[in-house]
Amino acid sequence: MEKDAKIYVAGHSGLVGTAIVRMLREQGYKNLLLRTSSELDLRRQADVEAFFERERPRVVILAAARVGGIWANMNNPAPFFYDNMMIQLNVVHAAWRFGAERLLFVSSSCSYPRMCPQPMKEEYILTGVPEPTNETYAIAKISGMKMIEAYHRQYGVRFFSVIFPNLFGCNGILFNHESPRRGETFVTRKITRAATRIKVGLQEKVFMGNMEAKRDWGFAGDYVEAMWLMLQQDEPDDYVVATGETHSVREFTEKVFQKLGLDWRAHVEIDPRYYRPTEVDVLLGDASKARKKLGWTPKVGFEALIDMMVAADLEQAQKEKTLKDAGFTCEPKRILS
Ligand SMILES: NC(=O)c1ccc[n+]([C@@H]2O[C@H](COP(=O)([O-])OP(=O)(O)OC[C@H]3O[C@@H](n4cnc5c(N)ncnc54)[C@H](OP(=O)(O)O)[C@@H]3O)[C@@H](O)[C@H]2O)c1
Repeated sequence: MEKDAKIYVAGHSGLVGTAIVRMLREQGYKNLLLRTSSELDLRRQADVEAFFERERPRVVILAAARVGGIWANMNNPAPFFYDNMMIQLNVVHAAWRFGAERLLFVSSSCSYPRMCPQPMKEEYILTGVPEPTNETYAIAKISGMKMIEAYHRQYGVRFFSVIFPNLFGCNGILFNHESPRRGETFVTRKITRAATRIKVGLQEKVFMGNMEAKRDWGFAGDYVEAMWLMLQQDEPDDYVVATGETHSVREFTEKVFQKLGLDWRAHVEIDPRYYRPTEVDVLLGDASKARKKLGWTPKVGFEALIDMMVAADLEQAQKEKTLKDAGFTCEPKRILS
């Protein structure tokens, strides 16, 4: 694709969007269209249509969504449905109407049925009912994927969907303590933050609920590379992008504390008040199609990801400690989704 192609990244300020923008800039794409939700609320059809009519982006990457963890999903089923449906209905339709050549819709492994066979393949979507705790989010995501499929089938446009599992980033946004809203990463964020704060003497304990759920965690930077390879294919298809490995929250916790030279058993307390419904016990993606057809492989493994997160949070904890020692109160907001 030419380096001056006009590319609209919807949701550029989020975890996934930040990684996309970084990758595109590194590759020399300069003509990026970026709008925050306060500049352009994608739930408003007239505003979205006016924007697309004026700007006519050639490529659209739809990473704008209402995203959150189990707790947020359980307590906000209406906005998780409304916001996600409206955003995707407006953006996909306007992209088609105003001539976008390619569009990529970011979906989530939450779209899979609760009892999905593991590892999850592209074709398992809609083979069962979703997990009840994030039902409306899942139904919105499935609808988005079906919308993409329908527009491709009927209008021949190159519109794609990609299914990501839980993601981690290391690009600034994940470490924005003022904006702890990225639910799927909250449990592990809570651990790295607590462990690094314990390390510098800012706290002593962290209270956890269920630590046995296993997830397929990947690095956002790796995943957006797969997404970009997809977007350049001529024949649209859905792809699962995943590491193909799972690790439990317990395993993650042990490693984080170990890397800081601490014994996690001395600092982690299991407290039933922090138990959330377990959701699905294991979520493992099968990325064999992405590996085979796109030639994609993730570069950042589980250990390296933890190293990045611990390093970034340790730096933050040290700053907090310096401020506290100087007499300033700098208590970060609690991260509990
Ligand atoms: N994070 C994960 O682990 C994960 C895993 C699988 C799939 N995904 C998928 O990846 C996509 C992005 O997720 P994320 O983790 O990057 O989310 P995020 O960090 O919460 O970012 C959400 C983005 O959406 C934008 N947005 C939200 N509501 C909007 C609205 N009404 N109008 C315009 N923009 C709006 C936000 O813009 P402002 O900041 O300007 O409000 C922000 O840029 C989602 O589709 C999600 O389902 C994420």
